[in-house]
Amino acid sequence: MSKYQAPKGVSEYFPPRSNLFEYVRDQLIAPAKRAGYSLIELPVFEDTELFERGVGESTDVVSKEMYTFEDRGGRSITLRPEGTAGVMRSVIENNLDRGQLPVKVFYVGPFFRAEKPQAGRYRQFYQVGIEAVGYNDPEIDAEVIWVADAAFKALGLKKYELQITTLGDAASRAAHRIELVKFLDKLNLDEETKIRARLNPLRLFDDKRPEIITAMKDAPMLVNYLNEESRSNFEKVKASLSALGINYSINPKMVRGLDYYTGTTFEFVHPMLGAQSGIGGGGRYDGLMNQLGGQDLSGIGFGIGIDRVLLACEAENSLENLPPKLDLFIVPIGEAAKDYAVKLLSELRNAGLNADLSYGDRGLKGGMKAADKSDAKYALVIGDDEIKSGIGQLKLMSSGQSISSTLTPSAIAKAISI
Ligand code: HAM
Repeated sequence: MSKYQAPKGVSEYFPPRSNLFEYVRDQLIAPAKRAGYSLIELPVFEDTELFERGVGESTDVVSKEMYTFEDRGGRSITLRPEGTAGVMRSVIENNLDRGQLPVKVFYVGPFFRAEKPQAGRYRQFYQVGIEAVGYNDPEIDAEVIWVADAAFKALGLKKYELQITTLGDAASRAAHRIELVKFLDKLNLDEETKIRARLNPLRLFDDKRPEIITAMKDAPMLVNYLNEESRSNFEKVKASLSALGINYSINPKMVRGLDYYTGTTFEFVHPMLGAQSGIGGGGRYDGLMNQLGGQDLSGIGFGIGIDRVLLACEAENSLENLPPKLDLFIVPIGEAAKDYAVKLLSELRNAGLNADLSYGDRGLKGGMKAADKSDAKYALVIGDDEIKSGIGQLKLMSSGQSISSTLTPSAIAKAISI
């Protein structure tokens, strides 16, 4: 065993699986870019208060899972457990909301939650997220969901499911809250649960204890308290999703793990991932910006767990036919060939090809073994004959078939692109 190990419960990616991770991450970002979202690169730590106020003190994330420490200046700092609060802080601080609306940004990177580690649940994990801030428009809700759905489709996933619901507007939630609190007052809850319920009574719908699940069976449901505006808004979101060809089911019992949600909320789940089936989720957050000291603008976004999407792709074998990492792997035989190959290699790379070389004088057998392992589409052996003639054989690794090519970068690039 090595002397040092990574901290417990973190996800790490190294070759060859890191190539898959990178592919998944890039596919998750691609539709966001196509839909006009720009990169926002934020610190991985923020003032603790931002998350307490933004994410909410009734949540597990804030009450149990934050990595919080005091920095050398005595400030309370927290490693970001999620991305939305930080985006909102930056939008307000940098006046992004004073320009063109909606502000459409995407982010990618590590997030930190001190959860009990298990398959698909890590203490450092990775998310791709997007946020669209500025308007409360059902078409934006549908666009945000489309971005995630398009990414999953591009990754070849077939078995994921989309669940949606609405938490309605402030008036609908207030009407429901009165009835829910009345209902909860009649239950015999322990002190800690009562405190959570006081902070956010909806949390009790998410309580996994069997006695609470039973007690909550007849609790008033928010969907039955929606006013006309909230109802028609949600109808428009559903109609837009259908028009975009996105399948969904309604889950009125969905409770997201963060307190800022209002209006449309959604979760993508994958049935082959066991207990950690949530591959992504998000929703609208009407009051968040205002609560964090900004103007009163609505926003919506999602966070997708890259780690879990990779697991889902592996479970569905959807990444089997990825393009090879390298276009060409060169195997030089002898000193002169190596000098020749090194020069050709740099010319090929300058011409935009992904190319590598068998280093370390391994001879033909060792060199071809390296070519096999390199995940290259073609291999090229260079020896004295090839140097003399200026012609080589490009061997297609998948079939063993060879194409003859002049050994110039442009001729090789042309031969390979056929
Ligand atoms: P979230 O549902 O807490 O939402 O996280 C989004 C996704 O991150 C989850 O669906 C899951 O795939 C992944 N994830 C969460 N925790 C872990 C973990 N411990 N290990 C592995 N993956 C994990 C948010 O974070 C919101 N900020 C999303 C959002 C953006 N809502 C509006 N805008």
